[in-house]
Amino acid sequence: MTKEISGFSKLSKDEKIDWIASTYFQSADEAKKLLKSYWNADEKLQQLHDDFIENTVSNFYLPMGIAPNFLINGKTYTVPMVIEESSVVAAASKSAKFWSTRGGFRTTVLKTEKIGQVHFIFKGDKEKLQGFFQLIKPNFFYDTEPLTANMQKRGGGILDIELRDKTHEIPGYFQLHATFETKDSMGANFINSCLEQFAKTLKDEADEYDGFSHEEKNIRVVMSILSNYVTGCIVRAEVSCKIEELAEKNIPDPEAFAEKFATAVQIAQVEPYRAVTHNKGIMNGVDAVVLATGNDFRAVEAAVHAYASKDGRYSSLSHAEIKDGIFRFWMDLPLALGTVGGLTSLHPLVKFALEMLEKPSAAQLMQIVAATGLAQNFAALRSLTTTGIQEGHMKMHLNNILNQFDATDEEREHVRKHFKKHAISHAAAVNYIESLRKK
Ligand code: MEV
Repeated sequence: MTKEISGFSKLSKDEKIDWIASTYFQSADEAKKLLKSYWNADEKLQQLHDDFIENTVSNFYLPMGIAPNFLINGKTYTVPMVIEESSVVAAASKSAKFWSTRGGFRTTVLKTEKIGQVHFIFKGDKEKLQGFFQLIKPNFFYDTEPLTANMQKRGGGILDIELRDKTHEIPGYFQLHATFETKDSMGANFINSCLEQFAKTLKDEADEYDGFSHEEKNIRVVMSILSNYVTGCIVRAEVSCKIEELAEKNIPDPEAFAEKFATAVQIAQVEPYRAVTHNKGIMNGVDAVVLATGNDFRAVEAAVHAYASKDGRYSSLSHAEIKDGIFRFWMDLPLALGTVGGLTSLHPLVKFALEMLEKPSAAQLMQIVAATGLAQNFAALRSLTTTGIQEGHMKMHLNNILNQFDATDEEREHVRKHFKKHAISHAAAVNYIESLRKK
């Protein structure tokens, strides 16, 4: 049977499902039943989800968990997290609780500027282009007024536009490099619309500019698009306390702990193989809140990892320092987030998440996300440098295995007792449950 199909997008949702089920599954009925079992009974709600993307056939659930007790700049937040990995929410909560009695997280938004570029080719006299650009610069602002009026009312808009000469990289390559303030929206649509207008203005004005030769008038715009590398949109999150205040059950010797912790961070700073995993731990927290609040996690991921390489080598995003008896742990993150626009007013659970965070501005959300990332990194490094990561992980994993086996309360009790004394592994847990059942 051929697996090629034309006009798939034109089929109804049921027809799409019929085609998939009959093309790929032995039991077409089972496949259809499964997809439909994830549909929402509320038809309006289902329609809303169907309309988010194209060719929707079902919903794909991810768990939404809650990490309470995040004390950030003196205010306590209950943080929503959407993530499939066990231990992450527990780790964030534990870390938040730990720091809530040690002054909490201090966060600062360092800058909030977004970037967009019109990439174009100009084969001609560079100085003439520079003169032309200065002459028509006000037109870029003027021609985009219909697009910027609303944003300006909210205190945002176009900040500046520069002409950048990139001809040393590619012959004839120039950019309009523009910066924007988009306030509480992530701003992708706003920026891209402005850029496309800039491109049009650039071409139209060049065409009419008497100073250009026939060849020079023919500016070739390659593309107009925002940059997800938001080096101008940075938030800092930080925790600190006296070294002796780090003491608790698993940290009997706070000084040794602080030293080992700082060394672990240093290793991530110099060793890219460790840095990637280290930063992945940060992103466990960051992505979970970014997803829960309906933001673009791919954009955030792309920006953060590029930022981790900003000094020429991929490195740790976080830093630790021990000075004058104080332990300090902090990081700067590039985060372009929105609390208006996009999914924020459409997805009911996103609205819920934002309401639980007490309707933050984009700048406040940047701070909450960064604090959660730092909390996650602290939790991972604390486990790694003390008990090891597997202890906590396997406890969670055990729970997943028990659920998979539909274990009764009595079986769960037996399993917990057994694995207090024995090392947990997937095989050991499965064997033990099976042996219990044979009895
Ligand atoms: C697992 O999802 C994340 C960690 O590997 C992060 C780290 O190693 O720092 C635990």
